[in-house]
Amino acid sequence: MNTAREHWGSRLGFIMAAAGSAVGLGNIWKFPYMTGENGGGAFLVIYLACIVVFGFSLVMAELLIGRAAQRNPVAAFRHVAGRGWPAVGAMGIVTAFIILSFYVVVAGWTIAYMLFTLNGSLANPDAAALGQVFSDLVANAWQPVVYAAIFTVLTALVVIGGVGSGIERASKILMPLLFLILVALVIRAVTLPGAGEGLEFFLIPDFSKVTGATFTAAIGQAFFSLSLGMGAMLTYGSYLPKERNLPADAFAVVVLDTVIAVLAGVMVLPAMFAAGIAPGEGGAGTTFKVLPAVFDAMPGGVIFGFGFFLLLAVAALTSSVSLLETVVCYFVDERAVSRRRATILSATCVFAISIPASLSSGLWSEVTFFGKNFFDLMDFLSSSILLPLGGMLTALCVGWVMGPRAIAALTNDGKLSMPWAGVWLFGLRFVAPLGIGWILLQGLFG
Ligand code: PFF
Repeated sequence: MNTAREHWGSRLGFIMAAAGSAVGLGNIWKFPYMTGENGGGAFLVIYLACIVVFGFSLVMAELLIGRAAQRNPVAAFRHVAGRGWPAVGAMGIVTAFIILSFYVVVAGWTIAYMLFTLNGSLANPDAAALGQVFSDLVANAWQPVVYAAIFTVLTALVVIGGVGSGIERASKILMPLLFLILVALVIRAVTLPGAGEGLEFFLIPDFSKVTGATFTAAIGQAFFSLSLGMGAMLTYGSYLPKERNLPADAFAVVVLDTVIAVLAGVMVLPAMFAAGIAPGEGGAGTTFKVLPAVFDAMPGGVIFGFGFFLLLAVAALTSSVSLLETVVCYFVDERAVSRRRATILSATCVFAISIPASLSSGLWSEVTFFGKNFFDLMDFLSSSILLPLGGMLTALCVGWVMGPRAIAALTNDGKLSMPWAGVWLFGLRFVAPLGIGWILLQGLFG
């Protein structure tokens, strides 16, 4: 079945595509406002700890399962671990739909903001006026839905194009560009009047603000940002030829993702303080509300603003592509559906569930489930429950079921020297399951 499986064209292409999956709205839209809501510096420290303790070893674990099995998540778990385990892959596919339902909505806002920069709606340094632009957009009944639809179609087009030609080529050029524009914006943001306080809030931890909820938020954010716990990394790993040196690639992806999240924090939080918005108050609109004032304070602000939202949309696209690819790869491999058909069907489902997610910021904001609107519920379910759970099960699978086989697969049967591989396996056996399990339990019942 898998004899003709497509592979990444080059090492750089793979790293850029995997980093493209990781770097997205999670870094630039979500990380800054989560940090704001969860106490600033202390959240940053706990987030970084989650990346170091769980993130890196699990990125390796997922890539390894994918590479060893050369199959979609469901079949890959069956291949490496046998009966029962495919359920973990299936859970990942459901999670992909849940994440996509709100991801395309936020990506749609990004497209709207590209247009707003051009038509002058954002040419206003006043925080209240900029806040109003955002509220008007999300409260509108149909506009955000149309933008989400446009973004879903774009995602589907790239996925239909296939892994190598579509995903790999786009990522290689655009990721470095995003990085450059981010650096320029960071420099402007931290030199705004009043920015220093924001920088302090972000970088100097105040642990008295830490609660159990801080841990839940940090681990959810770490998994979301690294595209972990639902089979996206596994799927990308399945397009890797067997001889690749996984740890080096995983390390590069984790570092890139983390650097970009931290840069986004250094950009948004000072801008937020400069705009006089309290850190807990920005909500999901934070990045959209505060950055236009940064552009306004720059020479050539319209170009920077447009470039920023364009590249953010592209970063979102390389992430949403990996989410949809995970689903499509399953239907293509397991159900013998054509790539085109599988993509069109899945994208239609995504669009359908993105409608309530979009309306929950406006027309349906009063419709709540367990005290959350549909958008927040989807976000909570995926980031705070399903991704950490998926990650924990992945750790158990590689740590206990594959065990020494995992080390053999990692080192290409001993051909690569990795003296620390035992530490990695120990982490997957004990540290990750117990640590993630504890955070999950106290998040749900604590
Ligand atoms: N990592 C992406 C981001 O930070 O925007 C979001 C994401 C992509 C989550 C793929 C999960 C996933 F499987």
